[in-house]
Amino acid sequence: MDEKITGLKAQLEADLAKIETAADLENIRVAYLGKKGSITDLMKGMKDLSNDERKALGQKVNELKTEVSDTITAKMEELKRKELEAEINAMPEFDVALPVNMDRGSYHPITLVQRQCESIFRTMGFTIEDYSEIVTDYECFEALNIPKHHPARDMQDTYYLENGQLLKSHTSAAQNAIYKKYKDALINEGKPIKAIFPGRCFRNEATDACHENTFFQMEGVMVDKDISISNLIFFMKTMLSEVFRKDIKVRLRPGFFPFVEPGFELDISCLICGGDGCPSCKHSGWLELCPCGMIHPEVLKAGGIDPEEYTGFAFGLGLTRLAMMKYGVKDIRDLNSGSLKVLSQFTDDE
Ligand code: PHE
Repeated sequence: MDEKITGLKAQLEADLAKIETAADLENIRVAYLGKKGSITDLMKGMKDLSNDERKALGQKVNELKTEVSDTITAKMEELKRKELEAEINAMPEFDVALPVNMDRGSYHPITLVQRQCESIFRTMGFTIEDYSEIVTDYECFEALNIPKHHPARDMQDTYYLENGQLLKSHTSAAQNAIYKKYKDALINEGKPIKAIFPGRCFRNEATDACHENTFFQMEGVMVDKDISISNLIFFMKTMLSEVFRKDIKVRLRPGFFPFVEPGFELDISCLICGGDGCPSCKHSGWLELCPCGMIHPEVLKAGGIDPEEYTGFAFGLGLTRLAMMKYGVKDIRDLNSGSLKVLSQFTDDE
C-alpha cells in the first residue's frame, strides 16, 4: 500500500508538470479526488483490511488526500497568476508618470450666454427655474390656451412620446407650473412673480445652417398688479444692452402666439451696422430676436391667477440665436456638433 501511495505522489508530480491551463488542472483534480478518482479508489479498497491495518492506512490516505488537494490548490493559484501576468503583458504600455494634457477646457457658448443672462436677470430680482424636458400635452399646449386640434399647434412640429407625453417644444411649457408655484406668494403676500427658465427645446425640423431640432430658449415671466408693455420693453432692453455691452435699440412688431395678448416680435437694432442697414440685417437695420407679449387672461386663469386683478408679460428669448449673434456663429449645427475644435474657441469674456 505504501508503494501505491508513493507511486500516486510521483504520478501526480509528473501530471502537474505537464499541464498549462486551469482546465487541465481541473481534469487532474477529478482524476485524483473525484468520485471515481485514484485516491477515492484507494479508500474503497480499505474495507477488506483488518481494523488495525485500516486505521494505519486510513491515516496515510487522509494525509495523502490533504496533500494532493493542497498541491492542486497551490498549482491553481500559480496558473491564475501566470494567466494574469500574460494578460498584463499583452496590454499596451502607457506611462502613468507622463504629465496630463494641460490644455484648458471651455464652456459651451450657449452656457456662457445663459449664465450671463441669468446673472443679469438675477440682479433685477428674477428667480431662475429649472424644468423638465419631457412634459405633458397640458403643460405644453392646453394650459397655454392652445386646445387640442387648434391650428396653432402646427406652429411647432412636436416630438410625441408613446406614453402621450412630449419633448417640450418651447420653454413656455413651464409657465403653468411657475404660476402655480408662486401664486400664493403673489396673492397673499403681494410678491410679484419674476422668473426666468432657460431650457433645451425640441422640434421636428429639417436641419440647415439656421434650423436645428434641438435648441435653447430662455423664457421669462413677470406677473403683478399693473404690469404693462413698458415693463417688458424696459427689462428686455436692459438685458440685451448688458449682453451685447452696448446700447441696444428695440422695437415691437405685432406677432401671434395664443398665450399672449397682445403678442409681439421684439427686434433689436442690427449689431453689425447699428441700424443703418447692411447685408446681415437684409438692409432693414433690425434683427428678429425675441417673441413676447402680455400673458393671455386664460393662461393666468389656468395658473390660478385672477386676470382681472393681475397682469403680466412673457418672453421667449432664443438663447441659441443669441449665442450665435454674440459669437458670430454662422451655422447653428456647429453648436450641437460636439466638435471641440469649434467649441473651445469661445471663452467667457467677463
Ligand atoms: N413659446 C414661443 C415659441 O417658442 C415664444 C413666446 C414665448 C412667445 C413667450 C410669446 C411669449 O414659439
